Amino acid sequence: MNSTTKTRTPRPMNEADFRRWRDRRVERINGLLTGALDARAQEQPQDVRGLLSAMRHGLLSGGKRLRPLLALAAADAAGGREAAAWPGALAVEMIHAYSLIHDDLPALDDDDLRRGQPTCHLVHGEAMAVLAGDALQSLAFETLAAAAGREPAKARRVATALRLLAQAAGPLGMAGGQAQDLAFESRRPTAEECLEMEKRKTGELLAASLGVGAALAGAGPASLEAFRRVGLAAGTAFQIVDDLLNQSGDPAVLGKAVGTDAQRGKASALSLLGPEKAALKARQLADQALELAARFKSPKLDRLLRSMVDRRN
Ligand code: IPE
Ligand code: IPE
Ligand code: MG
Ligand code: MG
Repeated sequence: MNSTTKTRTPRPMNEADFRRWRDRRVERINGLLTGALDARAQEQPQDVRGLLSAMRHGLLSGGKRLRPLLALAAADAAGGREAAAWPGALAVEMIHAYSLIHDDLPALDDDDLRRGQPTCHLVHGEAMAVLAGDALQSLAFETLAAAAGREPAKARRVATALRLLAQAAGPLGMAGGQAQDLAFESRRPTAEECLEMEKRKTGELLAASLGVGAALAGAGPASLEAFRRVGLAAGTAFQIVDDLLNQSGDPAVLGKAVGTDAQRGKASALSLLGPEKAALKARQLADQALELAARFKSPKLDRLLRSMVDRRN
């Protein structure tokens, strides 16, 4: 935390207060994401409107909005202003939406159902789904960069956030993790390698969601490093739970098909350790994240981290 942040004693937050905070933020996230696409859809030729429809499908078809919520909670946990974190919150969700559109493509996981609806490429075609992912990725960086303004201190915070987001999405982050996930379809990795892959493909973006929010709110390097460690532990746990839900979740609640990882011969901590040990690993990582996050004394962050493992969708 730097000199612009302040220490304070957080007010306790019960479950109802947390839900109220979360539901209001999700409503605002959805409104702002819709606005970002609507603003670009105006007076565009029909062909470009097709691309914007595919982007809309990927960005506005539901979802828990966990990443933007983490960004907002991190701003608050860092002792800064939640208002400063909004461009980052939208940007991380745009990167996430892009990653899901591409993840579902026939060349990757070849999935038909996402958020209870046919996947983007089934509705809009493969080419448009590829472009929608590309364009959402660009829009994420445009949205974040636009927050820089003229004030040097603010521009530096935005530059830090941009770097964190780019690293998390790139070869050492999500894209690299997706490459490992695919490579592991044709060779047998160790459980350690799988955990590393899960940390990259999912943990890095979740960690960057905290980092982006905290950086925009003025957090310094030590604090950012602490958020990173929280996010990587919680994010890896989140992916293990995603794999457990793919094995034994309720498809109606999940909005995704189940059993598809086993069908495709996906290697994961789950497939190598079995469900009991994988669930234990997820719990240990989640506890580690909660312990690391305790220094921020943020009930919102604490509840969000818990919701990442205690979930049915
Ligand atoms: C699904 O993420 C993909 C993973 C990285 C495990 P979410 O479970 O956050 O998906 P939505 O956004 O709520 O649909
Ligand atoms: C998450 O992994 C993929 C991304 C990083 C986008 P999964 O392939 O397990 O996610 P789902 O199950 O398709 O949501
Ligand atoms: Mg997938
Ligand atoms: Mg999965």
